[in-house]
Amino acid sequence: MLGVGIIGCGGISNGHARGWNANSERAKVVAVADVVDSAAQTRAAQVGGAQVYADYHELLQNPSVDAVDICLPHHLHKEAAVAAANAKKHVLIEKPLCLDMDEAKEIEAAVNASGITLMCAHNQVFTESVQEIKPRIEDGLLGDIYWIHSADCFLSRPFIRTGSAALSSHGPGTWRSKRELMGGGELIDTGYHPTYRLLYLAGAEAMTVSAVLTNHRLPQLDGEDTAQVLVAFANGSSGFILSSWAMNLPSGYSIHVVGDRGTISAGPGRIEMMLNGMERPAVKELQVPDTFAREIEHFIGCLENGETPVQSLADGIATLRLIRGAYQSVAEQRVVSLDTV
Ligand SMILES: NC(=O)c1ccc[n+]([C@@H]2O[C@H](COP(=O)([O-])OP(=O)(O)OC[C@H]3O[C@@H](n4cnc5c(N)ncnc54)[C@H](O)[C@@H]3O)[C@@H](O)[C@H]2O)c1
Repeated sequence: MLGVGIIGCGGISNGHARGWNANSERAKVVAVADVVDSAAQTRAAQVGGAQVYADYHELLQNPSVDAVDICLPHHLHKEAAVAAANAKKHVLIEKPLCLDMDEAKEIEAAVNASGITLMCAHNQVFTESVQEIKPRIEDGLLGDIYWIHSADCFLSRPFIRTGSAALSSHGPGTWRSKRELMGGGELIDTGYHPTYRLLYLAGAEAMTVSAVLTNHRLPQLDGEDTAQVLVAFANGSSGFILSSWAMNLPSGYSIHVVGDRGTISAGPGRIEMMLNGMERPAVKELQVPDTFAREIEHFIGCLENGETPVQSLADGIATLRLIRGAYQSVAEQRVVSLDTV
């Protein structure tokens, strides 16, 4: 039985705790840490009881903890990941891996030195649509892929409901509103999902990036609320990322893959495939699974079998590099070569 410590007991740790509970035959959350006691107590109760810590460094001393699940604000990821690796605890870490490439190097050094397994909690790789699309690409059904569109957009809901930013998790004074704590704006937060999805589906090295970052609806953010990112891959294909907290798209997130033998479009709950010569697309309704339960099941399996996670440290670094490159392209008003990031 894997002993788990959750570090950071805010919003997303609710989904993670649900995911650990769904895998209770193979893992148990034995410890939780948060600087806000009520948040830690709530999460401890959700997992059926766990030791509560205010300081996660003390949690890392607990011998019953084999792995930690880091659900902290972005600026705390690097320190927690390095401390966990140094304490020889395996790591599941929420996106983004950390704030910048210097921090990523520190995490990489600590992970390599300790030999622990680090998995990036890129939960949308476990959506039904991505799981359906990836093998079709690899089997060559669509032929040579030359364009992928990956989007994730929603209207920041608390902002709409209250008519003011005061109650929004993107509101003034929150860590998400501050560039130095967030590492940027929407792109390094929700925009991380369509970015790792693009890289996973493209299966090719990203060479250059350029971006347009704008803020339409959330002036309380230092950073953007909308990101458009153009990527060129080494194999000649290209990708486009659209991500926003300022607009609703019909399906929330969506993926379009175009190859010389056909196209696939997908969102939550539905996939459409149109091969060359077909008169109308083949449509399949999809389940909407609990992606946190799936990613946690995969993480547990990797630890049990000594396997490398489908979204490893290398995938986290590649995603962060693309995002940092996008920010650099806006700062420098040019197309950025990713080998310089
Ligand atoms: N996968 C997804 O769909 C998804 C969705 C939302 C958030 N996230 C990610 O999850 C992470 C957390 O986001 P959130 O929305 O849960 O944020 P949040 O602000 O709701 O929760 C963060 C928690 O960390 C606690 N905390 C702060 N400093 C601490 C410290 N030093 N030690 C221990 N606890 C500390 C806070 O008290 C809070 O409870 C971020 O990396 C975010 O990008 C992922």
